[in-house]
Amino acid sequence: MPQASFPIGVFDSGVGGLSVLRALLAAMPHERFVYLADSANAPYGERGDAFVAARTHAITQYLREQHHIKALVVACNTATAAAIHEVRSSHPDLPLVGLEPAIKPALAVTKTGHVGVIGTRGTLTSAKFSKLMASLQEQAHFVVQPCDGLAHAIERSVALPVAAPGSPVDATETGALCARYVQAMGSFGTAPGQMDTLVLGCTHYIFVAHELRALVGPGVQFIETGEPVARQTRRLLDTAGLLHQPIHATADETPATPSIQLLTTGPVAMLEAAAQRWLDLPASCCRSVQVP
Ligand code: DGL
Repeated sequence: MPQASFPIGVFDSGVGGLSVLRALLAAMPHERFVYLADSANAPYGERGDAFVAARTHAITQYLREQHHIKALVVACNTATAAAIHEVRSSHPDLPLVGLEPAIKPALAVTKTGHVGVIGTRGTLTSAKFSKLMASLQEQAHFVVQPCDGLAHAIERSVALPVAAPGSPVDATETGALCARYVQAMGSFGTAPGQMDTLVLGCTHYIFVAHELRALVGPGVQFIETGEPVARQTRRLLDTAGLLHQPIHATADETPATPSIQLLTTGPVAMLEAAAQRWLDLPASCCRSVQVP
């Protein structure tokens, strides 16, 4: 099989990276994907760098050995901050895309010059993020808020029924945490001195965008990384000659393996619920695996 037809690996601490997978699928509908949620070990945000780096290495190795991935998208800001440099040097032949809070794009969007940034404690206290902030902090006023517990609450919320439209935003654990952190950050809005831009620096947070929106108001711009990362991945594969060029399929041609596999080290029911709710994918795409 030519290498271009091998799958792209996508990995996150849990179900948050499905927000990135959604953008990847939209940008490259002909590619095969293997998504791995390390839900048995989520959340990564409060675990410390050594643990997150060890998991990132183990999962990269697993995806290469078991699934022969042709590229890897680390769809997790926390894992990128803790381990992307080491993964790059241990796997120099693997096209690799990481995520970081989209501070630079926020600068292009803000009119008030006041930007809020939310992410995990691991990401926002990392040397990588400090370096990024140091290079840009003269250009805007940044309010940086680690959101302990929010990614974990989002993981757990997958098992809950979908909230009725119009239900109060603090009716859930995720809503209460969003309210606590947004209030701690200060004033959002489009008037001078207010934060008119909010960087979602964790892939899980896209799934509480409606709750955040209800708290910050309609004029605030949300900046996330799914689409730019999908474009970057496409460019990288194109440059490496690894983009999958579909052959016109005939009616009786069915792929030997499904084009999207969703794997989890945690409870498969949670991944099934998330895949169905957020990507409209069937439970048959999901299975549990062990990655020691
Ligand atoms: N989704 C991850 C991120 O983008 C990590 C969340 C967590 O496991 O704490 O940082």
